[in-house]
Amino acid sequence: TWTPGNVIAEQVEAIRAQVGQDRVICGLSGGVDSSVAAALVHRAVGDQLTCVFVDHGLLRAGEAEQVEKDFVAATGVNLKVVDASQTFLDALKGVTDPETKRKIIGREFIRAFEHAAREIVAEAGDGAGDVKYLVQGTLYPDVVESGGGEGAANIKSHHNVGGLPEDLQFELVEPLRTLFKDEVRAVGLELGVPEQIVWRQPFPGPGLGIRIIGEVTAGRLEILRAADAIAREELSKAGLDRDIWQCPVVLLADVRSVGVQGDGRTYGHPVVLRPVSSEDAMTADWSRVPYDVLATISTRITNAVPEINRVVLDVTSKPPATIEWE
Ligand code: XMP
Repeated sequence: TWTPGNVIAEQVEAIRAQVGQDRVICGLSGGVDSSVAAALVHRAVGDQLTCVFVDHGLLRAGEAEQVEKDFVAATGVNLKVVDASQTFLDALKGVTDPETKRKIIGREFIRAFEHAAREIVAEAGDGAGDVKYLVQGTLYPDVVESGGGEGAANIKSHHNVGGLPEDLQFELVEPLRTLFKDEVRAVGLELGVPEQIVWRQPFPGPGLGIRIIGEVTAGRLEILRAADAIAREELSKAGLDRDIWQCPVVLLADVRSVGVQGDGRTYGHPVVLRPVSSEDAMTADWSRVPYDVLATISTRITNAVPEINRVVLDVTSKPPATIEWE
């Protein structure tokens, strides 16, 4: 029978068998998947694990701080924080194609992990050898949607599955590979991962990079970050966090429309609100968020973010649309 306890016992054994006495790193994103994967590996091999948090500059407001505060405080894992935002921005310069963005971001993640791994070994100076393993919070739906499952089509190369280089210097540890999201949450709770993390809505690894339709720039990230923070705050305030699977806010950076503010004409950008309800992200429906909540979000965003003069709602299910716009 399936219980979180059984999964943990099984995986702890499998992880120990795979890893032995070697060093392991885990890319921590602050999300439920990587946090639960890290907690599982930590349970299995303790301080052989170092978590690496790569700030790729594509994060939402307050996210980096949350990883440090919530997760490390609760689990006591070793954490290394890497600020790689400029590197990612440089690598994404001029890129507009969604799959190219994902591949670049995946590649830069791996480079950042490799760099961090060398530093971890140097800092430890204990002769215990190189980092051999990289933990990934890959779930079953990621495997299927990246074409890893039998007969599955390659729909999007989720960076933690499809974007890995051929010459990867790490072996992968993927303890969540057979699980669905709700199962991961149950395992996380059993492991003592904090509720704010276990119930955090999904956020894609490539972050705001795939929510800017068009080239990713520092200025556009700032605009989207401001709008996203307002939408999240209002949805939380309305008590909708657990009803909504997630609500991407998407900046149509290459689209402009005419508006009016005060006495003046504006020519700004639209953002799209994409609230969805789902069980496992394989299919989704658009969430019927109350009109007054949508109105508040729209008013607040257009008041606070001068570059945005229009807020639109995405009312498409998945399929035919995907949840993210890229
Ligand atoms: P889609 O857009 O494919 O999204 O309907 C399904 C779920 O996966 C998330 N997502 C990603 N997660 N790397 C990730 O780690 C990615 O490249 C990626 N693309 C989409 C998305 O937020 C949704 O929860």
